Amino acid sequence: MSEMSAFWQGWIIVLSVGNLLACLWLVWWATNKRTAAATGDVMPHTWDGTLQEYNNPLPRWWLWLFYGTIIFGAIYYTLYPGLWDGVLGWTSADKSFTKGDVVSQYEREMQKAEDTYGPIYAKYRSVAVADLAKDAEANGMGKRLFLTYCMQCHGSDAKGSTGFPNLSDSDWTWGGTPEQIQATIAVGRTAAMPPNAHLGEEAIDQVANYVMSLGGRGDPAKAEAGKAVFTSGGCIACHGPDAKGNPMLGAPNLTDNIWLYGASEGVIKKTITGGRNGLMPAHQGLLGEDKIHLLTAYVYSLSNK
Ligand code: HEC
Ligand code: HEC
Repeated sequence: MSEMSAFWQGWIIVLSVGNLLACLWLVWWATNKRTAAATGDVMPHTWDGTLQEYNNPLPRWWLWLFYGTIIFGAIYYTLYPGLWDGVLGWTSADKSFTKGDVVSQYEREMQKAEDTYGPIYAKYRSVAVADLAKDAEANGMGKRLFLTYCMQCHGSDAKGSTGFPNLSDSDWTWGGTPEQIQATIAVGRTAAMPPNAHLGEEAIDQVANYVMSLGGRGDPAKAEAGKAVFTSGGCIACHGPDAKGNPMLGAPNLTDNIWLYGASEGVIKKTITGGRNGLMPAHQGLLGEDKIHLLTAYVYSLSNK
């Protein structure tokens, strides 16, 4: 155990045991104080001048309930991790935290789920993505996986939001073949659009208008000047001379009026000036091949009806 966690463990022990003892003392104090005064007497205070309170001790059964919970607390702390590891050696944590050959509850439950659902996922392993995409049952499973692992970024309808691509259209930054989608999900993607502040405000204004002109917008004079910046500024290296993008680099097509970060001149300038680094996390460690296969088919099905 590291120095840091040893400190916090000590701190937690002091707080927990202190609390338990404080409860014990409170119950003991309340009982003694009440029984010391004459039982059955009326307390000196009144409410509304009429309501009064008898000075009776807590009922026995109630008192024992309090002692019971305190004793339960002490037993729990002894058996389970709370102050230290606990004599049962129980742990909810994953393997990296367990000691010796203790099998954690987490591991047991993961294993159980694997035994139950593994064969169901594996059933589809040998079916090609394009065929699987037409299978209603497989798509149902793919959708449920999507709603668990992908929805928080891409939305429940897979239509995405600013910075998170729409997966239900046929516009792909990293490619829309089964292999490309599978690779995106398994190993993740990191987009590297470099910052271009060094070009200066005027050139950025021009190249932004050039980018907009590709979709029929922007100021034509600025766009004309911006076309040269697009080449000299190195944009063509990633987005290509025709600005149609490059799936190997995740450089989007700038001519299709589909925007990951927004269509406004302000946002386009911000992207060009500051750069962007969209990150699609890798999922192969988390999900494994079979689930990724089903997810690939589900995503593929959204734009290949
Ligand atoms: C090293 C490769 C590279 C270069 C050079 C580059 N880009 Fe990009 N660009 C990208 C990538 C990758 C993205 C996607 C960023 C993301 O997904 O986070 C991107 C995104 C963009 C976007 C946002 C598109 C959207 O859908 O929101 C614009 C606009 C853009 N680039 C314009 C330019 C311009 C103008 C230049 C030249 C000044 C340039 N890029 C240079 C790789 C590059
Ligand atoms: C933490 C947020 C996050 C999660 C979770 C996430 N994604 Fe993504 N995903 C992204 C971002 C951001 C991008 C765009 C990266 C870039 O800028 O190019 C992306 C890109 C993609 C792409 C490529 C789209 C294209 O146009 O090429 C696919 C396919 C994809 N995600 C599928 C999935 C699936 C399936 C899941 C669930 C297993 C998932 N994503 C989970 C954030 C996420």
